[in-house]
Amino acid sequence: MAGMIPRQFIDDLLARADIVELIDSRVPLKKAGKNYQACCPFHTEKSPSFTVSQDKQFYHCFGCGEHGNAISFLMEFDRLEFPDAVEELASHYNMDVPREQSNRSPAQQKQDQKAYIQKQDDYELMAQISRFYQQQLKVATDKDVAINYLKGRGLSGEIVKRFGIGYISDAWDGMMKVFGRSNQINQQLVDLGMAIQGDKNRPYDRFRGRIQFPIRDKRGRVIGFGGRVLSDGTPKYLNSPETRIYHKGQELYGLYEAKQAVKQLTRLVVVEGYMDVVALAQHGVDYAVASLGTATTPEQLQTLFRTVKEVICCYDGDRAGRDAAWRAMDNALPMIQDGYSLKFVFLPDGQDPDSMIREQGQAAFENTLDNATPLSQFLFEHLLSQINMNSPEGKGAAVGAFQPYLAKLPASNLKDAIVTKLANQFGASNELQLKKLHTSFANTTENKAKPQRPKITPVRLAIALLLEHPHIVEKLPDPNILADLNLPGIPLLNQLLRLCKQNPKVNSAQLIEHFRDQEAGKQLTKIMCIEHHVETDHAEDTFLDIIEKFLNKFLENRSNELMEKQRTEGLTKAEIGELHSLLSEQK
Ligand code: UTP
Ligand code: MN
Repeated sequence: MAGMIPRQFIDDLLARADIVELIDSRVPLKKAGKNYQACCPFHTEKSPSFTVSQDKQFYHCFGCGEHGNAISFLMEFDRLEFPDAVEELASHYNMDVPREQSNRSPAQQKQDQKAYIQKQDDYELMAQISRFYQQQLKVATDKDVAINYLKGRGLSGEIVKRFGIGYISDAWDGMMKVFGRSNQINQQLVDLGMAIQGDKNRPYDRFRGRIQFPIRDKRGRVIGFGGRVLSDGTPKYLNSPETRIYHKGQELYGLYEAKQAVKQLTRLVVVEGYMDVVALAQHGVDYAVASLGTATTPEQLQTLFRTVKEVICCYDGDRAGRDAAWRAMDNALPMIQDGYSLKFVFLPDGQDPDSMIREQGQAAFENTLDNATPLSQFLFEHLLSQINMNSPEGKGAAVGAFQPYLAKLPASNLKDAIVTKLANQFGASNELQLKKLHTSFANTTENKAKPQRPKITPVRLAIALLLEHPHIVEKLPDPNILADLNLPGIPLLNQLLRLCKQNPKVNSAQLIEHFRDQEAGKQLTKIMCIEHHVETDHAEDTFLDIIEKFLNKFLENRSNELMEKQRTEGLTKAEIGELHSLLSEQK
């Protein structure tokens, strides 16, 4: 388990990041007065209500209410989890994300550290082996057989290099002879699935006499291999087993290469095989990935939809292919928000993407992709094919059959369209069920109702001004000046005052970040969205005015309290002194 990212690092990162530059790289922004604007990427709209503030390092949509700092934007837009969003932002600025080991016992921390070092070593060893396999294409005694095989499959040297494809001759210890230098490394090679222990003392090569496809993770590190036999041997492909660095359900073969090849990926094609990915890239379709197993897992789909908005799954047209497509669709439903799409291509019998593109070329293949079956069509075809539509019972069952799938879809235009289509086709035969469908549908859309704008109260205005201009804390004699005032919102203001005082150069985005996942954070981001119309020039005065009013309020409350006590039970000497000074301070 990776440890927590230190708060200090997140602060530094947000100090360096520029939200305008970041968002502009994904959603082109236009300058509008002090701020920047665009049509909101989080909901459909015709005129821009998505606003990015350079001063506040904050974005906010007046239409749908989405808002946050640079990290929040990456979480929402790139669909990343918090740590991944931090990693992504850090990579823009060439910063390495450190990890700390909170909540772990010293023994556990030591273990974490060991595991971390072990993995770094594993990646290094795998990289070396991958280079060794690639080199074998140049130096192995039987290298011509391998080169001819790759040529025969239509691959150029450039593509072979881009995918790091290599070769290992058919011997028991071709790789082990080079790498198996000690018992410790032998064990590591067995752990990494590169060698097999067997009965004898010395482990032997898992991959022998095969073309080697390195499997890289998102960051380009080699974590496993797929090896193909050159002739008709079995198995045709041998794959790395699951290891401490390779979890096949989480990886997509070719994703790293696609990201490297295409700057702005807009769609990804999911195919079955290593050779399909490589052959498509050879013919200019350099945005294909393979799912490394029969089913496309939820983790893989999540990765796909975090990378692009359009995913096209290419499967065999046979029963197995349709089943695989159905499973992928079922897993993907919760991720299909407005703007995202999942489509399917079912290949003719006996064809795969490799053979198709070699026969027909890039344009024809991309034309097939452009005409892929949309999710809704696949859903209707699949569900209705299982129902006898000639009977009223069948028609009744139809609507029910859609229910579990609609329930998984988030509120969206797609969901809307499916319900409308159902109503048109089956409305008369099953009004009750449709009604049910409509009500459950309505519930989900209601959640997207317009956000409420918070009212501007003095505390909120003070917080808003402080968030925007944290340095105004310097104008206060003491950041704890309101510590004793007991009014709603004041504790949060006090917390902010102390934070600003402790971090003289803090900016809004950093302040907000301190409160992520806390109730207070939600309040703060709401306040951040308040349009208060206080010009920068007047921010300081306005802020100090409010603080003064609070102080007067406090003095008034406290003197009333003391006078009340004087009437009922009398005051101590100290309290009398306090009351005197309070009364003289109040004007
Ligand atoms: P295919 O049998 O369709 O092979 O397996 P392919 O990709 O078309 O291979 P070529 O064109 O004959 O070289 C598709 C995928 O299924 C996995 C591999 O990931 C392969 O790319 N597979 C297949 C195995 O893991 N082992 C096998 O023995 C066969
Ligand atoms: Mn094939």
